[in-house]
Amino acid sequence: MLKKSKYNVAVIGVGAVGIEMLRVLKQRNFPVGELRVFARSGRDIEVGGVSYPVKPISPEGFDGIDIALFAGTEGEKGAAVTYAPEAVKRGAVVIDNGADFRMDPKVPLVVPEVNAADVKKHQGIISNPNCSTIQMVVALNPIHKKAGIKRIIVTTLQASSGAGKAAVEQLKEENVLIAQGGFGNLQVNASHKYMPQQLAYNVFPHIGSFVEGDYTNEEWKLVKETHKIMHAPKIKISATTVRVPVRTGHSESVYIETVRSVSAAQVKAILAKAPGVILMDEPKNNLYPMPKDAEGRDEIFVGRIRKDAFVKNGLWLWVVADNLRKGAATNAVQIAECVISGSR
Ligand SMILES: NC(=O)c1ccc[n+]([C@@H]2O[C@H](COP(=O)([O-])OP(=O)(O)OC[C@H]3O[C@@H](n4cnc5c(N)ncnc54)[C@H](OP(=O)(O)O)[C@@H]3O)[C@@H](O)[C@H]2O)c1
Repeated sequence: MLKKSKYNVAVIGVGAVGIEMLRVLKQRNFPVGELRVFARSGRDIEVGGVSYPVKPISPEGFDGIDIALFAGTEGEKGAAVTYAPEAVKRGAVVIDNGADFRMDPKVPLVVPEVNAADVKKHQGIISNPNCSTIQMVVALNPIHKKAGIKRIIVTTLQASSGAGKAAVEQLKEENVLIAQGGFGNLQVNASHKYMPQQLAYNVFPHIGSFVEGDYTNEEWKLVKETHKIMHAPKIKISATTVRVPVRTGHSESVYIETVRSVSAAQVKAILAKAPGVILMDEPKNNLYPMPKDAEGRDEIFVGRIRKDAFVKNGLWLWVVADNLRKGAATNAVQIAECVISGSR
Protein backbone atom coordinates (compact mmCIF):
# COMPACT_ATOMS: atom_id res chain seq x y z
CA MET A 1 0.00 0.00 0.00
CA LEU A 2 1.25 3.48 -0.92
CA LYS A 3 2.30 5.66 2.01
CA LYS A 4 -0.24 8.44 2.60
CA SER A 5 -0.85 10.97 5.33
CA LYS A 6 -4.47 9.75 5.67
CA TYR A 7 -6.22 6.53 4.70
CA ASN A 8 -9.83 5.99 3.68
CA VAL A 9 -11.29 3.47 6.11
CA ALA A 10 -14.47 1.38 6.04
CA VAL A 11 -15.93 -0.26 9.15
CA ILE A 12 -18.35 -3.08 8.37
CA GLY A 13 -20.79 -3.97 11.14
CA VAL A 14 -21.92 -1.82 14.04
CA GLY A 15 -22.54 -4.56 16.60
CA ALA A 16 -20.52 -5.20 19.75
CA VAL A 17 -17.17 -5.16 17.87
CA GLY A 18 -17.94 -2.58 15.16
CA ILE A 19 -18.90 0.08 17.68
CA GLU A 20 -15.70 -0.56 19.62
CA MET A 21 -13.78 -0.31 16.34
CA LEU A 22 -15.09 3.24 15.82
CA ARG A 23 -13.99 4.17 19.35
CA VAL A 24 -10.54 2.59 18.98
CA LEU A 25 -9.84 4.30 15.63
CA LYS A 26 -10.49 7.65 17.30
CA GLN A 27 -8.68 6.88 20.57
CA ARG A 28 -5.55 5.66 18.76
CA ASN A 29 -5.60 8.65 16.37
CA PHE A 30 -5.56 6.38 13.35
CA PRO A 31 -4.92 8.65 10.33
CA VAL A 32 -8.43 8.38 8.89
CA GLY A 33 -9.25 10.35 5.75
CA GLU A 34 -12.79 9.42 4.76
CA LEU A 35 -14.63 7.03 7.10
CA ARG A 36 -17.49 4.90 5.77
CA VAL A 37 -19.58 2.73 8.07
CA PHE A 38 -21.60 -0.16 6.62
CA ALA A 39 -24.13 -2.63 8.00
CA ARG A 40 -27.05 -4.60 6.60
CA SER A 41 -29.36 -1.61 6.96
CA GLY A 42 -28.78 2.16 7.01
CA ARG A 43 -29.34 4.47 10.04
CA ASP A 44 -27.45 6.99 12.17
CA ILE A 45 -25.65 5.80 15.28
CA GLU A 46 -23.91 7.68 18.07
CA VAL A 47 -20.68 6.40 19.60
CA GLY A 48 -18.75 8.37 22.22
CA GLY A 49 -20.71 11.54 21.45
CA VAL A 50 -19.96 11.33 17.71
CA SER A 51 -22.71 10.66 15.19
CA TYR A 52 -21.91 8.22 12.36
CA PRO A 53 -24.13 7.67 9.31
CA VAL A 54 -24.40 3.92 8.61
CA LYS A 55 -25.02 2.95 4.99
CA PRO A 56 -26.30 -0.37 3.62
CA ILE A 57 -23.30 -2.38 2.42
CA SER A 58 -22.61 -2.66 -1.33
CA PRO A 59 -19.59 -3.64 -3.46
CA GLU A 60 -19.35 -0.09 -4.86
CA GLY A 61 -19.17 1.27 -1.32
CA PHE A 62 -15.55 0.04 -1.25
CA ASP A 63 -14.42 2.18 -4.19
CA GLY A 64 -11.50 4.32 -2.96
CA ILE A 65 -11.23 2.54 0.43
CA ASP A 66 -7.67 1.77 1.62
CA ILE A 67 -8.45 -0.27 4.75
CA ALA A 68 -11.66 -2.23 5.37
CA LEU A 69 -12.21 -3.39 8.96
CA PHE A 70 -14.82 -6.17 8.88
CA ALA A 71 -16.89 -6.79 12.01
CA GLY A 72 -19.99 -8.31 10.47
CA THR A 73 -21.29 -11.77 11.13
CA GLU A 74 -19.52 -14.86 9.81
CA GLY A 75 -20.46 -17.58 7.36
CA GLU A 76 -21.82 -17.95 3.89
CA LYS A 77 -24.21 -15.01 4.07
CA GLY A 78 -21.95 -12.96 6.36
CA ALA A 79 -20.35 -9.68 5.42
CA ALA A 80 -16.77 -10.89 4.95
CA VAL A 81 -17.41 -13.85 2.64
CA THR A 82 -19.62 -11.73 0.41
CA TYR A 83 -17.83 -8.39 0.47
CA ALA A 84 -14.16 -8.91 1.46
CA PRO A 85 -13.19 -10.11 -2.06
CA GLU A 86 -15.08 -7.11 -3.52
CA ALA A 87 -13.14 -4.75 -1.25
CA VAL A 88 -9.80 -6.36 -2.18
CA LYS A 89 -10.69 -6.18 -5.89
CA ARG A 90 -11.14 -2.42 -5.42
CA GLY A 91 -7.70 -2.02 -3.80
CA ALA A 92 -8.50 -2.20 -0.08
CA VAL A 93 -6.61 -4.23 2.50
CA VAL A 94 -9.21 -6.19 4.47
CA ILE A 95 -8.78 -6.93 8.18
CA ASP A 96 -11.46 -9.44 9.14
CA ASN A 97 -12.62 -10.17 12.67
CA GLY A 98 -14.49 -13.34 11.80
CA ALA A 99 -13.35 -16.95 11.38
CA ASP A 100 -13.99 -17.23 7.64
CA PHE A 101 -10.40 -16.76 6.42
CA ARG A 102 -8.35 -17.43 9.56
CA MET A 103 -7.05 -20.87 8.61
CA ASP A 104 -6.52 -20.05 4.91
CA PRO A 105 -2.76 -20.53 4.33
CA LYS A 106 -2.71 -17.41 2.11
CA VAL A 107 -4.17 -15.25 4.90
CA PRO A 108 -1.94 -14.09 7.77
CA LEU A 109 -3.48 -14.44 11.22
CA VAL A 110 -1.91 -11.74 13.31
CA VAL A 111 -1.46 -10.64 16.90
CA PRO A 112 1.08 -7.80 16.57
CA GLU A 113 2.82 -8.55 19.90
CA VAL A 114 3.50 -12.08 18.61
CA ASN A 115 3.80 -12.20 14.80
CA ALA A 116 3.62 -8.66 13.38
CA ALA A 117 6.04 -9.66 10.59
CA ASP A 118 3.36 -11.97 9.12
CA VAL A 119 1.39 -8.87 8.05
CA LYS A 120 3.88 -8.44 5.17
CA LYS A 121 2.77 -11.76 3.64
CA HIS A 122 -0.81 -10.65 3.03
CA GLN A 123 -2.46 -10.86 -0.38
CA GLY A 124 -5.30 -8.48 0.43
CA ILE A 125 -6.87 -10.13 3.48
CA ILE A 126 -5.50 -10.34 7.03
CA SER A 127 -7.44 -12.15 9.74
CA ASN A 128 -7.89 -11.10 13.32
CA PRO A 129 -7.84 -14.17 15.59
CA ASN A 130 -10.60 -15.27 17.96
CA CYS A 131 -10.79 -13.19 21.14
CA SER A 132 -9.83 -16.02 23.50
CA THR A 133 -6.85 -16.97 21.32
CA ILE A 134 -5.51 -13.40 21.22
CA GLN A 135 -5.27 -12.97 24.98
CA MET A 136 -3.75 -16.42 25.47
CA VAL A 137 -0.97 -16.01 22.90
CA VAL A 138 -0.01 -12.52 24.11
CA ALA A 139 0.57 -14.03 27.56
CA LEU A 140 2.17 -17.31 26.45
CA ASN A 141 4.45 -16.30 23.58
CA PRO A 142 7.09 -14.63 25.80
CA ILE A 143 7.19 -17.76 28.01
CA HIS A 144 7.41 -19.97 24.91
CA LYS A 145 10.42 -17.99 23.67
CA LYS A 146 12.22 -18.49 26.99
CA ALA A 147 11.28 -22.04 27.97
CA GLY A 148 9.50 -23.70 25.02
CA ILE A 149 5.88 -24.64 25.68
CA LYS A 150 4.96 -28.24 24.82
CA ARG A 151 1.47 -28.54 26.38
CA ILE A 152 -1.41 -26.13 27.01
CA ILE A 153 -4.68 -26.96 28.80
CA VAL A 154 -7.03 -23.99 28.89
CA THR A 155 -10.49 -23.38 30.28
CA THR A 156 -12.04 -20.11 29.18
CA LEU A 157 -14.74 -18.16 31.02
CA GLN A 158 -16.18 -16.01 28.26
CA ALA A 159 -18.41 -12.97 28.64
CA SER A 160 -21.78 -12.50 26.95
CA SER A 161 -20.52 -9.75 24.63
CA GLY A 162 -18.25 -12.35 23.03
CA ALA A 163 -21.43 -13.62 21.36
CA GLY A 164 -22.43 -10.16 20.11
CA LYS A 165 -24.85 -7.50 21.23
CA ALA A 166 -27.92 -9.80 21.09
CA ALA A 167 -26.30 -12.02 23.74
CA VAL A 168 -25.69 -9.04 26.05
CA GLU A 169 -29.38 -8.12 25.66
CA GLN A 170 -30.40 -11.69 26.53
CA LEU A 171 -28.29 -11.61 29.72
CA LYS A 172 -29.81 -8.25 30.70
CA GLU A 173 -33.38 -9.46 30.09
CA GLU A 174 -32.83 -12.68 32.05
CA ASN A 175 -31.41 -10.73 35.00
CA VAL A 176 -34.48 -8.46 35.01
CA LEU A 177 -36.87 -11.45 34.82
CA ILE A 178 -35.14 -13.20 37.72
CA ALA A 179 -34.98 -9.99 39.79
CA GLN A 180 -38.72 -9.49 39.23
CA GLY A 181 -39.54 -13.08 40.22
CA GLY A 182 -37.08 -13.32 43.11
CA PHE A 183 -34.75 -16.25 43.69
CA GLY A 184 -37.69 -18.64 43.52
CA ASN A 185 -37.70 -17.90 39.81
CA LEU A 186 -34.17 -18.91 38.79
CA GLN A 187 -35.30 -20.58 35.57
CA VAL A 188 -36.14 -18.20 32.73
CA ASN A 189 -36.07 -20.73 29.93
CA ALA A 190 -38.58 -18.89 27.80
CA SER A 191 -36.17 -16.02 27.32
CA HIS A 192 -33.13 -17.84 25.99
CA LYS A 193 -33.57 -17.07 22.38
CA TYR A 194 -30.03 -16.23 21.27
CA MET A 195 -27.57 -18.22 23.39
CA PRO A 196 -28.07 -22.00 23.69
CA GLN A 197 -28.91 -21.79 27.42
CA GLN A 198 -30.04 -19.35 30.08
CA LEU A 199 -26.97 -17.30 31.08
CA ALA A 200 -28.13 -15.27 34.10
CA TYR A 201 -27.19 -17.10 37.33
CA ASN A 202 -25.73 -19.88 35.19
CA VAL A 203 -22.64 -21.01 33.27
CA PHE A 204 -22.54 -23.44 30.36
CA PRO A 205 -19.65 -25.25 28.62
CA HIS A 206 -20.96 -24.65 25.12
CA ILE A 207 -19.59 -21.92 22.82
CA GLY A 208 -20.03 -22.44 19.10
CA SER A 209 -21.16 -25.83 17.81
CA PHE A 210 -20.07 -29.33 18.76
CA VAL A 211 -17.75 -30.78 16.11
CA GLU A 212 -14.79 -33.17 15.92
CA GLY A 213 -14.13 -35.25 19.06
CA ASP A 214 -17.07 -33.58 20.90
CA TYR A 215 -15.07 -30.36 21.18
CA THR A 216 -16.76 -27.15 20.05
CA ASN A 217 -15.46 -25.17 17.09
CA GLU A 218 -14.60 -22.38 19.58
CA GLU A 219 -12.32 -24.90 21.38
CA TRP A 220 -10.64 -25.94 18.12
CA LYS A 221 -10.01 -22.25 17.33
CA LEU A 222 -7.82 -22.03 20.44
CA VAL A 223 -5.82 -25.01 19.18
CA LYS A 224 -5.44 -24.25 15.48
CA GLU A 225 -5.11 -20.46 15.71
CA THR A 226 -2.45 -20.71 18.44
CA HIS A 227 -0.42 -23.10 16.27
CA LYS A 228 -0.63 -20.70 13.31
CA ILE A 229 0.10 -17.45 15.17
CA MET A 230 2.98 -18.80 17.27
CA HIS A 231 4.39 -20.86 14.37
CA ALA A 232 4.39 -23.77 16.81
CA PRO A 233 2.25 -26.57 15.36
CA LYS A 234 3.61 -29.19 17.74
CA ILE A 235 2.24 -27.71 20.98
CA LYS A 236 -0.38 -30.10 22.39
CA ILE A 237 -3.42 -27.98 23.21
CA SER A 238 -6.79 -28.89 24.78
CA ALA A 239 -9.51 -26.36 25.50
CA THR A 240 -12.85 -26.13 27.26
CA THR A 241 -14.81 -22.96 26.51
CA VAL A 242 -17.42 -21.79 28.99
CA ARG A 243 -19.92 -18.92 28.79
CA VAL A 244 -20.27 -16.99 32.07
CA PRO A 245 -22.72 -14.23 33.08
CA VAL A 246 -20.20 -11.40 32.68
CA ARG A 247 -20.93 -8.49 30.34
CA THR A 248 -17.44 -8.00 28.85
CA GLY A 249 -14.02 -9.50 29.62
CA HIS A 250 -12.91 -13.07 29.05
CA SER A 251 -10.96 -14.95 31.74
CA GLU A 252 -8.81 -18.00 31.14
CA SER A 253 -7.34 -20.59 33.46
CA VAL A 254 -4.25 -21.74 31.56
CA TYR A 255 -2.00 -24.70 32.39
CA ILE A 256 1.30 -25.04 30.53
CA GLU A 257 4.16 -27.49 30.49
CA THR A 258 7.49 -26.22 29.27
CA VAL A 259 10.47 -28.05 27.73
CA ARG A 260 13.00 -26.17 29.85
CA SER A 261 12.51 -25.49 33.53
CA VAL A 262 11.30 -22.02 34.45
CA SER A 263 10.31 -20.80 37.90
CA ALA A 264 7.16 -18.86 38.73
CA ALA A 265 9.38 -15.89 39.63
CA GLN A 266 11.07 -16.06 36.22
CA VAL A 267 7.69 -16.18 34.46
CA LYS A 268 6.58 -13.14 36.45
CA ALA A 269 9.75 -11.29 35.45
CA ILE A 270 9.24 -12.22 31.77
CA LEU A 271 5.60 -11.10 31.77
CA ALA A 272 6.34 -7.88 33.67
CA LYS A 273 8.35 -6.80 30.61
CA ALA A 274 6.22 -8.41 27.90
CA PRO A 275 4.56 -6.12 25.32
CA GLY A 276 0.85 -5.61 25.91
CA VAL A 277 0.85 -7.45 29.26
CA ILE A 278 0.14 -6.14 32.75
CA LEU A 279 1.28 -8.43 35.55
CA MET A 280 -1.24 -8.34 38.41
CA ASP A 281 -0.11 -10.99 40.81
CA GLU A 282 -0.12 -10.22 44.52
CA PRO A 283 -2.22 -12.98 46.06
CA LYS A 284 -1.44 -11.80 49.59
CA ASN A 285 -3.14 -8.49 48.77
CA ASN A 286 -6.02 -10.20 46.93
CA LEU A 287 -4.68 -8.73 43.70
CA TYR A 288 -5.39 -10.74 40.56
CA PRO A 289 -7.04 -9.90 37.22
CA MET A 290 -10.84 -9.72 36.92
CA PRO A 291 -13.04 -8.92 33.92
CA LYS A 292 -14.70 -5.93 35.59
CA ASP A 293 -11.28 -4.25 35.82
CA ALA A 294 -10.18 -5.26 32.32
CA GLU A 295 -13.29 -3.85 30.61
CA GLY A 296 -12.35 -0.89 28.42
CA ARG A 297 -8.60 -1.67 28.60
CA ASP A 298 -6.32 -2.75 25.77
CA GLU A 299 -3.82 -4.81 27.76
CA ILE A 300 -3.81 -8.48 28.74
CA PHE A 301 -3.81 -8.96 32.52
CA VAL A 302 -2.01 -11.96 34.01
CA GLY A 303 -1.93 -13.24 37.59
CA ARG A 304 -2.13 -16.35 39.83
CA ILE A 305 1.18 -17.60 38.34
CA ARG A 306 2.19 -20.73 40.20
CA LYS A 307 4.05 -23.99 39.69
CA ASP A 308 2.16 -27.26 39.46
CA ALA A 309 2.72 -29.15 42.72
CA PHE A 310 3.28 -32.49 40.95
CA VAL A 311 4.54 -31.89 37.40
CA LYS A 312 8.14 -30.61 37.17
CA ASN A 313 7.71 -28.11 34.34
CA GLY A 314 4.00 -27.47 34.88
CA LEU A 315 2.71 -23.96 35.55
CA TRP A 316 -0.66 -22.23 35.97
CA LEU A 317 -1.68 -18.73 34.88
CA TRP A 318 -4.91 -16.71 35.02
CA VAL A 319 -5.33 -14.44 31.97
CA VAL A 320 -8.00 -11.75 31.57
CA ALA A 321 -8.70 -9.26 28.77
CA ASP A 322 -11.49 -7.18 27.22
CA ASN A 323 -12.78 -9.38 24.38
CA LEU A 324 -14.15 -6.41 22.42
CA ARG A 325 -10.93 -4.32 22.70
CA LYS A 326 -7.72 -6.40 22.55
CA GLY A 327 -9.81 -9.48 21.70
CA ALA A 328 -11.20 -7.78 18.59
CA ALA A 329 -11.22 -4.04 17.78
CA THR A 330 -7.87 -2.96 19.24
CA ASN A 331 -6.04 -5.92 17.71
CA ALA A 332 -7.61 -5.17 14.32
CA VAL A 333 -6.62 -1.50 14.45
CA GLN A 334 -3.09 -2.49 15.57
CA ILE A 335 -2.91 -4.71 12.46
CA ALA A 336 -4.02 -1.72 10.37
CA GLU A 337 -1.22 0.31 11.99
CA CYS A 338 1.27 -2.40 10.95
CA VAL A 339 -0.12 -2.29 7.39
CA ILE A 340 0.37 1.46 7.03
CA SER A 341 3.70 1.60 8.81
CA GLY A 342 5.69 0.30 5.90
CA SER A 343 4.36 -3.20 5.48
CA ARG A 344 2.51 -3.86 2.23
N1 LIG B 1 -17.81 -10.12 20.23
C1 LIG B 1 -16.55 -10.46 20.37
O1 LIG B 1 -15.97 -10.49 21.50
C2 LIG B 1 -15.74 -10.84 19.18
C3 LIG B 1 -14.37 -11.03 19.35
C4 LIG B 1 -13.60 -11.38 18.25
C5 LIG B 1 -14.20 -11.53 17.01
N2 LIG B 1 -15.54 -11.34 16.88
C6 LIG B 1 -16.12 -11.48 15.54
O2 LIG B 1 -16.44 -10.16 15.07
C7 LIG B 1 -17.57 -10.21 14.20
C8 LIG B 1 -18.63 -9.25 14.73
O3 LIG B 1 -19.08 -9.69 15.98
P1 LIG B 1 -20.08 -8.86 16.91
O4 LIG B 1 -19.98 -9.50 18.24
O5 LIG B 1 -19.82 -7.41 16.76
O6 LIG B 1 -21.51 -9.21 16.21
P2 LIG B 1 -22.91 -8.46 16.40
O7 LIG B 1 -22.96 -7.69 17.65
O8 LIG B 1 -23.93 -9.51 16.14
O9 LIG B 1 -22.96 -7.40 15.17
C9 LIG B 1 -22.92 -7.81 13.83
C10 LIG B 1 -22.95 -6.58 12.90
O10 LIG B 1 -22.65 -7.03 11.59
C11 LIG B 1 -23.58 -6.53 10.66
N3 LIG B 1 -23.77 -7.51 9.58
C12 LIG B 1 -24.18 -8.79 9.68
N4 LIG B 1 -24.24 -9.37 8.46
C13 LIG B 1 -23.85 -8.42 7.58
C14 LIG B 1 -23.72 -8.38 6.17
N5 LIG B 1 -23.97 -9.45 5.38
N6 LIG B 1 -23.28 -7.23 5.61
C15 LIG B 1 -22.99 -6.14 6.36
N7 LIG B 1 -23.12 -6.10 7.71
C16 LIG B 1 -23.53 -7.23 8.29
C17 LIG B 1 -24.86 -6.31 11.46
O11 LIG B 1 -25.62 -5.36 10.75
P3 LIG B 1 -27.04 -4.81 11.24
O12 LIG B 1 -26.72 -3.99 12.48
O13 LIG B 1 -27.55 -3.97 10.12
O14 LIG B 1 -27.86 -6.02 11.55
C18 LIG B 1 -24.30 -5.87 12.82
O15 LIG B 1 -24.11 -4.47 12.84
C19 LIG B 1 -18.00 -11.68 14.17
O16 LIG B 1 -17.44 -12.29 13.05
C20 LIG B 1 -17.43 -12.24 15.44
O17 LIG B 1 -17.19 -13.63 15.38
C21 LIG B 1 -16.32 -10.99 17.92
